[in-house]
Amino acid sequence: MERLPGFRDFYPEPLPNQDVWSADVRQYIFDRWRVAARNYGFCEYDGPPLEPLELYTVKSGEEIVGQLYNFTDKGERAVALRPEMTPTLARMVGAHERNYKKPIKWFALPQLFRYERQQKGRLREHFQFNADLLGETSPAADAELIALLIDLLRAVGLKSDDFVIRLSSRQAWREFFTKRCQDSAKEYEFYQIIDKLEREEPELNRQKLAAIGFQLSEIEDFVKAGQPTAELQSVIENLGARGLSDFVKIDYNVIRGLAYYTGSVFEAFDRKGQFRAIAGGGRYDHLVKLITGGKTDLSAIGFGMGDVVLTELLRERNLLPKLQSALKAFFIIEDETLRPETFRWIQALREAGCGVDYSLTPAKPDKQFKRALELKATFTIKLERVEGALQARLKNLATREEKTLPVGDLVAAVGA
Ligand code: HAM
Repeated sequence: MERLPGFRDFYPEPLPNQDVWSADVRQYIFDRWRVAARNYGFCEYDGPPLEPLELYTVKSGEEIVGQLYNFTDKGERAVALRPEMTPTLARMVGAHERNYKKPIKWFALPQLFRYERQQKGRLREHFQFNADLLGETSPAADAELIALLIDLLRAVGLKSDDFVIRLSSRQAWREFFTKRCQDSAKEYEFYQIIDKLEREEPELNRQKLAAIGFQLSEIEDFVKAGQPTAELQSVIENLGARGLSDFVKIDYNVIRGLAYYTGSVFEAFDRKGQFRAIAGGGRYDHLVKLITGGKTDLSAIGFGMGDVVLTELLRERNLLPKLQSALKAFFIIEDETLRPETFRWIQALREAGCGVDYSLTPAKPDKQFKRALELKATFTIKLERVEGALQARLKNLATREEKTLPVGDLVAAVGA
């Protein structure tokens, strides 16, 4: 039986071939994301993978609603697998806002589901790091979030010549739109056209814009001028003070596809332009109010970074580390009468936090040794009874160094 298209199997290393996804690489990326987020004072949260459909139809925009995995459950509820985390976060924060001092700085690592047209870097499921800061309207919050995004990418070995954050303003685009068009029903459609400008043929863009009363040339002039708003200027200066100027540029080609953004918006791209966006986010000051039915009004800014493009980029740039097995020791049982004693010491080492493995059934010693090598154990351990006393023979598989010690010293010797 085949897995569904756009879904992934994650295998442990060593991988059967280079076309499958690695569970160890995924864990490596998750670990780096978590460390960077905590360094910035963000706390981890999570929510349900299945939500009421309504949560997404309220304000995420037609594009994402068109990609929903939705169905009616056995209790006749209209439900959807989460395509993004932001509406869940808005609901959760809204429900208990008073319990948290502002600004609220939270991160999450959800698996998300979108019925997308499959293409490079876009699947039907992905893991997405999310960081959001709620309850602060100052551009200082925008800069803090963008600095975190830069450091998340640096934490996996990428440098300023590998990626760039393209910074823009939904507010600036909104002003551009309202100066020329008073029909707010066309606003979201306009944003959608701008969002796809770089990916579509100019002629198609020209036609789509003309249909809502805009000229491609005026859009191009606006993008080219790239005049930063006061807010964006402040973000740029803030990042400059951190020594992070090389990682950002103003680029009004970015507008973001989701409907709820209200202020600064940004996307991270590889500089060679080989991949789709690595990450994207922005300010969304009205979503919490909307989702809580007006009960809570909290400004917010955040971003999401998927694992798919990032993994492809790290692989392409040779930045994935050699993933080491966590196995500390492999016990070789040569004398089966010592198996019960061996269990006692396997247990003691595991309780001391060491990864330990052994052969579940009797096997030839050379077969057991081969298995220890395959599992990349640091040590092999063999128990021996010498003149009535139980000893452990410890072999370091990297240096081939061997020593014998009283079995009581094993935990101290291996655990260290
Ligand atoms: P988004 O731009 O839809 O934003 O997704 C953010 C990132 O998730 C993308 O840049 C990409 O890395 C990854 N991603 C999205 N869709 C897919 C897919 N089908 N396959 C693989 N990777 C994908 C949001 O989702 C916003 N909710 C982010 C946000 C958080 N805004 C504020 N807070």
